[in-house]
This record gives sequence, structure tokens and C-alpha cells, in this order.
Amino acid sequence: MKKVKSHYKILFVCLGNICRSPTAECVLRNLFAQRYPAILVSFDSAGTAGYHIGKPADSRTRSAAAERGYRIDSIAKQFSPEMVSQYDLILAMDRENLLSIQSLFKTRPSNVRLFSEFLSDKWPQDVPDPYHGQRDGFEYVIDMIESATESLAEFLIKQNLESQDR
Ligand code: 4NP
Repeated sequence: MKKVKSHYKILFVCLGNICRSPTAECVLRNLFAQRYPAILVSFDSAGTAGYHIGKPADSRTRSAAAERGYRIDSIAKQFSPEMVSQYDLILAMDRENLLSIQSLFKTRPSNVRLFSEFLSDKWPQDVPDPYHGQRDGFEYVIDMIESATESLAEFLIKQNLESQDR
């Protein structure tokens, strides 16, 4: 019998869940809805730290995104180890947060990976934390995230084909 298709669930994780990961969640949700409406995927985000739990995204994050037509309305939440089994793929926005997540487990969960795996080599491995910087840092974060769209779509199309083969 053919398996009922379900959404592939992706969680982006940064430190505070008010700058990088909510941007990834919102930008990729919008771009996938526009460009790849047939791909069944949902996007969410969390932070390894709990400083901003319950707060909306940073106002600079929201305004930089709004200028490109993205409306970020997520509320910050903290990453918890159960999320590893609740999401198909967890993408840490930088190596520090990847290590923070991995340190919660005895063996490294295979679905926890680095966001920049979906970027070309012209980008740095870490999405730089824009929190203490200037406006251009927030725009750079959006540039990096937009650049991952196509390779993430290729990955998801492959996942979907593989799950249909099974
Ligand atoms: P994010 O940025 O991890 O991209 O959400 C940060 C937000 C807040 C802080 C650090 C980074 N903070 O130190 O409060």
C-alpha cells in the first residue's frame, strides 16, 4: 500500500531564537511556498539559550526581513532534546550551536546538521550572529538563508523520492 505523504519537518536552531533561526524559518517558508509548492515541508525554529523565551523576533530582524517582503511573526522558544525525534532535520545556524545540541546526547543524532551544508563554498560555515552588530549583518543573514533554497529543495525532492521507493 502506498504510504500517505507527510510533511518533512525542519527545525532551525540558533542561540537566542530571535535573529537567525526565525529568519530562516520565515524566509524559507515563504520561498518554498512560492517556488516549490509541491514539496511537503514545514519550518520551525528554536534557540539553545533561554534568554528570550516568549518574545517576538528582534525588531532589527523583523524590519530587515520586512524590507524584502518577509513577515516574521514567530515567538522565541528554547531547544529541547525531545525535538530531535519530533523533527526530521535539525539545522544549527553555526558550529557553536551544533556543538551545544550534540553535547546533550551520548551519540550524535544523525539528523542534526549544520545549515551551511546547504550553501556553496563562497559562504562561511557559520551564519554570523548579527545581534551585537549593524544593520548590514541582518541583511547578510537573509542573503545567506535565501542562498540555501535551491540546494535544500534538491535535498527534499530526493528525500521524498526515497520515501516513495520504500
Ligand atoms: P540569534 O542572535 O542567536 O541569531 O537569535 C542572538 C540573539 C540574542 C543574543 C545572542 C544572539 N543574546 O545574547 O541575547
